[in-house]
Amino acid sequence: MFDAETIEIFKSHKTPFYYYDLGLLRRTLDEIKTHGLSKGYHVHFAIKANFNLPILEEIRKAGLGIDCVSGNEIKRAIESGFTGKQLAFAGVGKTDEEIQIGLDNNIFSFNCESLQELEVLNSLAGKSDKTANISIRLNPNVEAKTHKYITTGLNENKFGITADKLPKLFEMLPSLENISLTGIHFHIGSQITDLQPFKDLCDRVNEMQDLFEKNAIRLHHINVGGGYGIDYENPDDNPIPDFKSFFEVFDRNLELRESQQVHFELGRSIVGQCGSLISKVLFIKEGVTTNFAVIDAGMTELIRPALYQANHRVDVLTSDKPHKTYDVVGPICETSDTFQKKVQLPELQRGDLVAIRSAGAYGEVMSSGFNLRERVKAVYSE
Ligand code: LLP
Repeated sequence: MFDAETIEIFKSHKTPFYYYDLGLLRRTLDEIKTHGLSKGYHVHFAIKANFNLPILEEIRKAGLGIDCVSGNEIKRAIESGFTGKQLAFAGVGKTDEEIQIGLDNNIFSFNCESLQELEVLNSLAGKSDKTANISIRLNPNVEAKTHKYITTGLNENKFGITADKLPKLFEMLPSLENISLTGIHFHIGSQITDLQPFKDLCDRVNEMQDLFEKNAIRLHHINVGGGYGIDYENPDDNPIPDFKSFFEVFDRNLELRESQQVHFELGRSIVGQCGSLISKVLFIKEGVTTNFAVIDAGMTELIRPALYQANHRVDVLTSDKPHKTYDVVGPICETSDTFQKKVQLPELQRGDLVAIRSAGAYGEVMSSGFNLRERVKAVYSE
């Protein structure tokens, strides 16, 4: 929660706005350094989760790389001081222009998601007189046990190359002279809090390594993607995910070959807890079955509850009165524009401030201009 001084600062800003606690971000990065980087693991921050410059600056200083999914994300990473060699580029639908941006920046790896993409990349690299380093994104058909909209590693999902296409891949590779296969890539989904799916992923990686070796392909690196979840229910009890246990799963279960690198692409677990959406109560409306607290932030600023039924804690910052029951709703003309239903909160009145917690990942980046809403500002702890 926030101290009195911070709440006073909040009162001086126009609401709604995103607030980022850079101290918490640094402590989170320190844990990644201690339990991941110190073991030689390479961690790329999934920039899609948050692309604000002060956040990227902390991440760069901590020694992480970046995972991109668009040409503009590559440009943003380069502008923020990352080098091409620190960038991985995934995505099922890379345009020729975006591939060219990757080629021009000599990125670490194109994570390729279809056989046709390999052919296009090979031809564009040839025209630029380059050899592009690629990883094959494999769809491991592993159940991630998360929301169906953020599950990516099942056969029914559009992502990656499924096992049945591998014979064709091995047949094609020798003729693709302007690409060099350096790794295999996986990403099974997001907001995964149970470690079992990651163990299952390691088993699949081991099987795949054997298969690639049988086909005389030696892999320089394994990229296991991201997906580690955060505690949306209790952000104050668990502000930093348990990275020790997370990295240990890979320590124990991956069968690495000599001098093989392991890469991760973590987004939410790095920035999720350091961001909150701060909003003001506009109106209190007594309904028939509940009271509505209508706030000035809506699904335009944070779409996750409307899109994935995501639970973001709402904390009241300026009232300590006895509790009442509220539906906390935004101003947008959609019934799904609801942050919490039937929640017990200190009695609210017009002008009270609330914090919608755990909004640092996939919050501000997914905001929209629906209803001609203005883009909100970001405020940093320092
Ligand atoms: N690598 C790839 C290839 C990805 O597609 C993603 C996320 C990540 C890494 C990072 O995953 P993370 O560590 O953040 O779970 N908008 C949704 C989440 C979509 C995630 C898409 N891919 C949400 O708000 O929950």
